[in-house]
Amino acid sequence: MTQGASKAVRSAGAMTFPTSLALDAPPVEGSDTHRLVRDVGDALNARLRQMHLQLLEQVPDVDRIACVLYEQSTDLLKTFVNSTREGEAIKGYEFRLADSESLSRLATSRDSRVLDDIPAAVQGNSLHSIWLLKEGYRSSLTVPLYDRDLFIGFLFYDSRKPAAFTAQVQRNLSLFSTLINMTISNELNVVRSITTSAQVAREFANLRDFETGGHLERMAHYSRLIARALAESQGLSDEYIEHLYLFAPLHDIGKIGIPDSVLLKPGRLDPEERALMETHVQMGIDVMERLIGEFDLQHLPDSAVMRNVVAGHHECVDGSGYPHGLKGEEIALESRIIAVADILDALTSHRPYKEPWTIEAAVGELERLVAVGKLDADCVNVVKDHIPEVEAIRDRYRDP
Ligand SMILES: [Fe+2]
Ligand SMILES: [Fe+2]
Repeated sequence: MTQGASKAVRSAGAMTFPTSLALDAPPVEGSDTHRLVRDVGDALNARLRQMHLQLLEQVPDVDRIACVLYEQSTDLLKTFVNSTREGEAIKGYEFRLADSESLSRLATSRDSRVLDDIPAAVQGNSLHSIWLLKEGYRSSLTVPLYDRDLFIGFLFYDSRKPAAFTAQVQRNLSLFSTLINMTISNELNVVRSITTSAQVAREFANLRDFETGGHLERMAHYSRLIARALAESQGLSDEYIEHLYLFAPLHDIGKIGIPDSVLLKPGRLDPEERALMETHVQMGIDVMERLIGEFDLQHLPDSAVMRNVVAGHHECVDGSGYPHGLKGEEIALESRIIAVADILDALTSHRPYKEPWTIEAAVGELERLVAVGKLDADCVNVVKDHIPEVEAIRDRYRDP
């Protein structure tokens, strides 16, 4: 836990404090690689918890603060970060903005919404309403978030007290809302700048001819599917999953440095060409490090997820991969997920030299790769258990 946060806990004094906040606070250094990775993806959540602790000193009735992000291409609102005082947090949940008339209105009008009596106001049996009632929330304040003119999501303040959001409380919260809005849009802008730069670099290098946009889109969705299914057992936050999804398409960015004679060679590569091809991982790491430097992200813990997506996607759990021959859990979870998602898409898409495999046949091959020690068994099991979802992603982002 950072110093600021522990100070805030202490000054919270006599308040009955936040079992869940204390329990999932970031642990100290020296934890194993996996813990480290998980906490890495949790940086923004940790900041939100810290702000929540400070906020409670002024406005003690706010039991929960949560932010959902809006994805324009799918019209989905997705849980992102939350700070929940006690009880269970809702995670890994998404719903269409168009399905909520009142939220759609807020998104366009920029108005906030106060509900003084949630049980009376919330109808319908969405998972979200059921959860709100079960957790005993009685009133809420909803604030739409923007990055300049672009709607980016909502901030929800919930209280177990009815009518907790008086005009005075709303005034007290407005500074916090602005602060949280800025923090989140800054973070999104950094991520967006990085993925845009990488995309521009890829387009300049004509990588599009080689690697279709469809491949990147599909493997990013497969990665997210796997991470979501592992979220509970591996303790992955929504924030981590979102970053993994956003950074997944960068995995082969180093191929921009591979000469066309090797990159576009139709037949098998000879050993020398293969060795050259394998340098794409190190070149990718160099590109990522340059971007991390360019955007001054050295100290941002999220940059580790971004780096691992590139650095570890050809490592194998038995240590036979490259560039470092890492084994098992020495390979970051995000790298193991990317490896499975990447191979799954390669098998199930058309290539000049092969027809697409069926998902079932691809799963058979992935299981064989687990048996011979190449791929992570948990990640492959998720694919095996989610065939309809895999098919839906394949069909939705089909190459033209
Ligand atoms: Fe690669
Ligand atoms: Fe790939």
